[in-house]
Amino acid sequence: MFGKKKNIPEIDKEQLELIKNAQKRIKQKKRLYFHFVLFLIGGAFLILANTVLGFGQEFTILGQEWFVLAILIWLFFLVYHIFNVYVTHKFMGKDWEKKQLEKLVDKQKKRIEKLNASLPKEEEKIAPIQTQEVLMENTQKPKQELTIIVAAAENDAIGKDNKLIWHLSDDLKRFKALTNGHHIIMGRKTFESFPKPLPNRTHVVITRQQDYKTPEGVIVVNNLDDAIDACKNDPQPYIIGGGEIYKQALPIVDKIEITRVHDHFEADTYFPKIDHSIWKEASNTFHKKDEKNDHEFSFITYIRK
Ligand SMILES: NC(=O)c1ccc[n+]([C@@H]2O[C@H](COP(=O)([O-])OP(=O)(O)OC[C@H]3O[C@@H](n4cnc5c(N)ncnc54)[C@H](OP(=O)(O)O)[C@@H]3O)[C@@H](O)[C@H]2O)c1
Repeated sequence: MFGKKKNIPEIDKEQLELIKNAQKRIKQKKRLYFHFVLFLIGGAFLILANTVLGFGQEFTILGQEWFVLAILIWLFFLVYHIFNVYVTHKFMGKDWEKKQLEKLVDKQKKRIEKLNASLPKEEEKIAPIQTQEVLMENTQKPKQELTIIVAAAENDAIGKDNKLIWHLSDDLKRFKALTNGHHIIMGRKTFESFPKPLPNRTHVVITRQQDYKTPEGVIVVNNLDDAIDACKNDPQPYIIGGGEIYKQALPIVDKIEITRVHDHFEADTYFPKIDHSIWKEASNTFHKKDEKNDHEFSFITYIRK
């Protein structure tokens, strides 16, 4: 009793459309029929008005009685009406509109398909340009070669009481020649072991102190990453010590320039062991002891395997 739905007959959309069209068509034809009847009555009335009632008998247009012209004009509109109902409707009616719409949609679909097909080609064109840009960037900016430079004894000793343990004139000369014009990264203690900053080199000093004061031109950073970042425009920055910094930098450097001093020394600072499964010797030059060099030594270059 309550809430029971009535069965409403459902007419699908297409049927409804057909019914609407048929109703519209009937209305059109009805209007044409009334127009035709009106024309007959109106035409007869105009003839009677002129011939029987004598209305406007003297009035002519281009030698023709006015009522004849009026009936002819009216006839023209009636023919036009008939034409609209039977001819225009047939050719430009709903079916015609539907076909036109289908044609246009089809055309658009084809254009979209064509555009989609040309898209991958465009991507292919863009990709080589991007690759070229990357290549140019890579060729313009040579790869940075981060290098450790160190003098270490056979027992890996490198310093004692914040000082070097030996005097090797040729080693100092080599250090100067290699690092000249480049960034040199060092720990705060090594920096303090110099009487003053070395000429013609950009000093990058690593310290945990936030307000560490240095002479003008010296870059102070708080970690190794920032130190390397400070050298980003130098293709060949050097890590020059001391022990703490070497230890942190060894896993990330590309090259080691080591002066191996062929002796054993008592020290408080050491260079980490060089793992020969990671590093391969690229060059090795032996130097004898002489009046300027207190010990025998070898200049050895290691590169990653
Ligand atoms: N034979 C060679 O080729 C050679 C070369 C260079 C030095 N050396 C010798 O090595 C000795 C000095 O080496 P060292 O190991 O004692 O000291 P160092 O490595 O020169 O400097 C250590 C200091 O660097 C700072 N530091 C280290 N790691 C850091 C980090 N991750 N973040 C921020 N700051 C950091 C700290 O400074 P703060 O304490 O200010 O925070 C630390 O006290 C000296 O005897 C020197 O003569 C030998």
